[in-house]
Amino acid sequence: MAEFQHEQLVVRRGARSGLPIVVAVHSTVLGQAIGGCRLASYPDWRDGLADALRLSAAMSDKCALAGLPNGGGKTVVAVPPGAVDRRAVLHDVGDVIAGLGGAYATGPDVGTGPDDMAVIGERTAHVFCRPDGAGGSGDSSGHTAAGVLAALRVLCAERFGSADLSARSFAVLGLGRVGGRVLRLLADAGASLVAADVDDGKRGLAVAAGAAWVGPPECLAAEVDVLVPAALGGLLTARTVPRLRCAAIAGPANNQLDEPATAGLLHDRGILWAPDVIVSAGGIIHAVAVELRGESAARAAARVDGIAGTLAGVLRAARAADSTPAAAARARIQKILHRTA
Ligand code: PHE
Repeated sequence: MAEFQHEQLVVRRGARSGLPIVVAVHSTVLGQAIGGCRLASYPDWRDGLADALRLSAAMSDKCALAGLPNGGGKTVVAVPPGAVDRRAVLHDVGDVIAGLGGAYATGPDVGTGPDDMAVIGERTAHVFCRPDGAGGSGDSSGHTAAGVLAALRVLCAERFGSADLSARSFAVLGLGRVGGRVLRLLADAGASLVAADVDDGKRGLAVAAGAAWVGPPECLAAEVDVLVPAALGGLLTARTVPRLRCAAIAGPANNQLDEPATAGLLHDRGILWAPDVIVSAGGIIHAVAVELRGESAARAAARVDGIAGTLAGVLRAARAADSTPAAAARARIQKILHRTA
């Protein structure tokens, strides 16, 4: 039987929406648990519940590695196909978070943005990234994308001996709020690009960035230097890893590995994988710097750039021990948690 490793798990039927509102608080050992609110479609609401458990645990790792005084949590609402009363769902989410009395604060994630945070904020103060005008630090996706670029430079330096992105080719899988920005930044840096999204409407974005537009399976298996997973999790599995033709992987998608052992499969194929919990931390680093620490935009941006140093340290440790970067990251997390214990 799998061990229950979370501090609390709340599942409550929303009074307004009737939908199951899931909030998983993985850990408050380092401080208030933080993690985004995901509104997505799942085959079954229990799949959303399982996702919340996984994603909240990953947020604890993300916060620890980013040096934040926070633990991990996540909100997931499995939205049924068709029209949903968004305000009702968001108010239901806000009520559940308010009921946690500050143990957890939310923010944007897949399917939500700053305007949604403002609506949640009508029910609870424990919410990051409301629009600038509504007392928050605004859209976090640009900061997440900036962190991804910092990570990609480090990854390229480690794998190819140069941090120069213009010499490299990238396949960006997923052109949502973060992936679309990463593509744009890579285009500005002069990189060669392939891109895909399940939504054909994103094609124009790819073409505007000078990227070759392909289907998601072709993007996954593209012959490029670096694969950039920027969509949903669980992309890297025992089935997909043998199909990869890249030399390295780094992207903002959360939970890229379907299970920890997949890191070993990548390592065996000589594919250097940058742990997603390090690469994707820019948004949360920025939000905490501005909203909790009251720091300037410049100071917050410098903290986001700190992702480069964190990733370089983990990749160096992995190389020295001939271990996977995932194992090196895990060792570092243990050390950080130990220091607190
Ligand atoms: N979606 C963000 C992540 O996965 C969560 C977040 C961003 C939370 C910004 C708060 C503020 O890291």
